Amino acid sequence: MVKEASYLDWNNSIQILNKAHQADLFVLIIGPKGTGKTSLVRDFAKSKNAKLESINFSLRTRESHLIGTKTLTNGTVSFEEGLLIKSMNEGSMLYLDEINSAEADVLLRLDEALDDRRQITLKESTGEIVKAKEGWFVIATINPLTHSGTKELPPQLLSRFPVRIRLEYPPEDIELEIVKRHVSGNHDSEIVQAIKLANILRQAAAVEELFYSPSLRETIAFGKLLDGGMSPKESAKIVFGNVYTQWGNIEYQKVNDIITSMFGN
Ligand SMILES: Nc1ncnc2c1ncn2[C@@H]1O[C@H](COP(=O)(O)OP(=O)(O)O)[C@@H](O)[C@H]1O
Ligand SMILES: [Mg+2]
Repeated sequence: MVKEASYLDWNNSIQILNKAHQADLFVLIIGPKGTGKTSLVRDFAKSKNAKLESINFSLRTRESHLIGTKTLTNGTVSFEEGLLIKSMNEGSMLYLDEINSAEADVLLRLDEALDDRRQITLKESTGEIVKAKEGWFVIATINPLTHSGTKELPPQLLSRFPVRIRLEYPPEDIELEIVKRHVSGNHDSEIVQAIKLANILRQAAAVEELFYSPSLRETIAFGKLLDGGMSPKESAKIVFGNVYTQWGNIEYQKVNDIITSMFGN
């Protein structure tokens, strides 16, 4: 089994989460993919010894995932709780991942539970009112609107999360520290080079010169391939270069030239 690397809290996010938790204010984490949003939340839940219920939102997420569904077994109707109801009843931590990729009607239902009364009417079941147990805490994430499939979050839902944490790609030296937590060998100088490459590609993607922005997942994967004995240049091509084939040969060649200039022929 792969040991989970510990989370490096490089921008004081844990402290902000702690303050929000104390004040019973729900939190929204905003940032591109692969910047550590999920690992931050897992680390925080662990530090609080809290049970974490997670929902990863997509266009296919339905109200029933949140609320629950009526089931009929041997003539008996029972109600299977969705994760929102479950976490409210448990008083646990609820992680709503990428809420801005869900359909608007699903989000409306969320809004009901998140208002100051922290309760929801179970019209799907017996019409009873579920009130969140003491300690219930919600953290949501959204990707910036440039990500495909993301929609603007309705302002009223946004206001349910008054504490907002921005997570961007870390500075170079910190990214090196993070990658090192995930790899075992010593390849510092090659990893620094890969981080520089990643930052060039991120900047190009930010101004829409390229269609894809590599995340920490890629710089970590690069380090892991080096651990496995692959050469830096081949690892760079495999992890950073080949993906651009998706947008055609010109895009791919552009990146491949950068890789060759940085990692040699
Ligand atoms: N600060 C950090 N400390 C340790 N690992 C990190 C950190 N930030 C990101 N990672 C690692 O980078 C990868 C992507 O992080 P993840 O939390 O899945 O990002 P996101 O949820 O923003 O897409 C994971 O392997 C994660 O462990
Ligand atoms: Mg995530």
